Amino acid sequence: MSTKNKISDQPVRFPKDFLWGSAISAHQTEGNNVNSDWWAWENSAGRAAALKARGKSLEDHRSGEACDFYHRYDSDFALAESLNQNAIRISVEWARIEPKSGEWRGEEVRHYVEVLKSAQKHGLKTFVTLFHFTLPLWFAESGGFAQPGNVDRFVAYVEKLAAKLDPYVDFWLTLNEPEIYTSHAYYFGIYPPQHKSLRESFRVVNNLIAAHRRTYAVLKKQSTKPVGLAYHLLDVVAVNVLSSFNRLFFHYVANEYVLNRTVKFCDFIGVNYYNHVHLAWWGRRMQSQSRHETSDLGWGIHPEGIERVLVGLKRYRKPVYITENGVADAADTRREKFIKDHLRYVQRAIARGVNVRGYLHWSLIDNFEWHHGFRPRFGLVAVDYATQKRTVRDSARAYASICKNNSLSA
Ligand code: BGC
Repeated sequence: MSTKNKISDQPVRFPKDFLWGSAISAHQTEGNNVNSDWWAWENSAGRAAALKARGKSLEDHRSGEACDFYHRYDSDFALAESLNQNAIRISVEWARIEPKSGEWRGEEVRHYVEVLKSAQKHGLKTFVTLFHFTLPLWFAESGGFAQPGNVDRFVAYVEKLAAKLDPYVDFWLTLNEPEIYTSHAYYFGIYPPQHKSLRESFRVVNNLIAAHRRTYAVLKKQSTKPVGLAYHLLDVVAVNVLSSFNRLFFHYVANEYVLNRTVKFCDFIGVNYYNHVHLAWWGRRMQSQSRHETSDLGWGIHPEGIERVLVGLKRYRKPVYITENGVADAADTRREKFIKDHLRYVQRAIARGVNVRGYLHWSLIDNFEWHHGFRPRFGLVAVDYATQKRTVRDSARAYASICKNNSLSA
């Protein structure tokens, strides 16, 4: 690291009213999301065969009861409060509310009202995501977001839901990471429906962009709350002059394609920051772990990238919330340093004029890490899946003291 980039270990204060908290999503934590496309996929014969062929355990890769957050939200929010957090990000599961096309379950909407009331009781501002990777099975089977006409169904759902939920929401997030969802579900074939088509990927990402814009308009009609989108932003690093051109191209595709088409329809920008990529001079070898310490998932830990990503957003002149940032670290030997290092670079971005107003760590509790199953541990709080016992990790206490003081000491 050059001296220019060296972070100081002086105490660092954050702006007044900064939000400190953590994030989760519904399918990853609630358990028994039985009417969703993910549930169907996790329990399909094809998935079982693919896991068996790779020598992996089926049980580890089925969300099942997950963290039973559906029933334990109140005690989990109490934990967040005890760790001095003042904000929480959750998502609402469409597959519960409309398990069959046109069948509206009012009791599930009331459940989410209770969840949000509980968060408020525990002093947590609420960020509510409307689409975090999972869909009702009926919607997925009718073509999901690959069908332009289906956007209407999503917007109609949001309109009806928001009428009930809005009083308990502080910040709306329309979509989580349209870039990652599209690439993983329609290009790399990792998430259901496991397609591998560039053409279809463009169709899906453009439909998601339309879904965001229309959802934004619908929410603005009935709500005074800020509406944003959670973007997955990568720090794209060129290793030499030759890869600079590739860098521009990759940066555009990975970060700017969605951002440029949606940011006008955002009251704030949500940033999910995890990774960077080093582009080798061909642009063919992309590594995120080279020269870096890695997480349990082999992702390179690269805190300086968050400053670059944030400074890149300055031109949009919008408030920014970090809606996810975290590390898979079962032994909890890297998380405290990870948080502190990232926060020092966040502070540098603030000093350079970026209007960052909050930091939500991924994640409050260990949870179901999509196609990787339960093995990666992202939680500030550990979950024993056999007993559902929660255990606060040391890094969570270190983070709690940052939240309490609104500052970071050496
Ligand atoms: C997703 C989360 C996920 C996290 C860690 C983010 O891209 O929004 O759902 O658990 O990354 O992989």
